[in-house]
Amino acid sequence: MAIHLPPQKRTIVRIIRRRESRPVVETLRPHHLPGVAAMAESLSTRSLYYRFFAGTPKVPPQLLRQLATLDHDQREAVVAVHRGRVIGLALYVRLPDTRRADLAVLVVDAWQHRGIGRRMVSRLATLAARRGITSFDASVLPENKAALRAVARLWPGAAPRPDEDCVHYSLPTLLMTRGQTP
Ligand SMILES: CC(C)(COP(=O)(O)OP(=O)(O)OC[C@H]1O[C@@H](n2cnc3c(N)ncnc32)[C@H](O)[C@@H]1OP(=O)(O)O)[C@@H](O)C(=O)NCCC(=O)NCCS
Repeated sequence: MAIHLPPQKRTIVRIIRRRESRPVVETLRPHHLPGVAAMAESLSTRSLYYRFFAGTPKVPPQLLRQLATLDHDQREAVVAVHRGRVIGLALYVRLPDTRRADLAVLVVDAWQHRGIGRRMVSRLATLAARRGITSFDASVLPENKAALRAVARLWPGAAPRPDEDCVHYSLPTLLMTRGQTP
């Protein structure tokens, strides 16, 4: 039997449903780790290759170990979660005795190009800037057009430094956080 709600209540139900269907970006906590491991199942070989630069069939175990021992200062990660499922991961690892950190981002294929990478990187940049990290180092394979476009879009002034294997960037954390809504 159909339930008829008054218009105001229908609007409230619609808002709640929309909120529930929007992925949330959260600081990675131990309870997310099984979800990060499971995320690999929904990744294409191409996405894994673009992220890990090798024909790796799954998220490497050493990454999972690293995520299990984050200190939330020198090493930090955020995840995007949709209805309990981890659909994205962004991680920084500070380079010793510098104000720089290595940045890596991964979004499951079905959610790519829907603003998840932008939201995760923005949140991570905010956390990094608060901890005195002024820039992210990022390396992208030259054939990874989506990532190259994402960097150019998120950091319009970023100067690519190509070498024979990769395109390298130094990306200011503060510039990223300015005017962005994590
Ligand atoms: C690269 C990656 C992290 C981007 O994340 P994403 O959630 O897909 O990106 P977003 O939706 O936040 O897009 C940010 C900007 O990038 C650009 N972009 C992203 N994917 C794109 C695509 N497939 N084609 C064209 N532009 C794209 C857009 O310009 C977008 O800005 P806009 O929406 O304002 O136009 C994601 O595609 C991914 O995980 N790829 C596989 C792993 C990888 O390449 N990691 C990067 C190397 S470590």
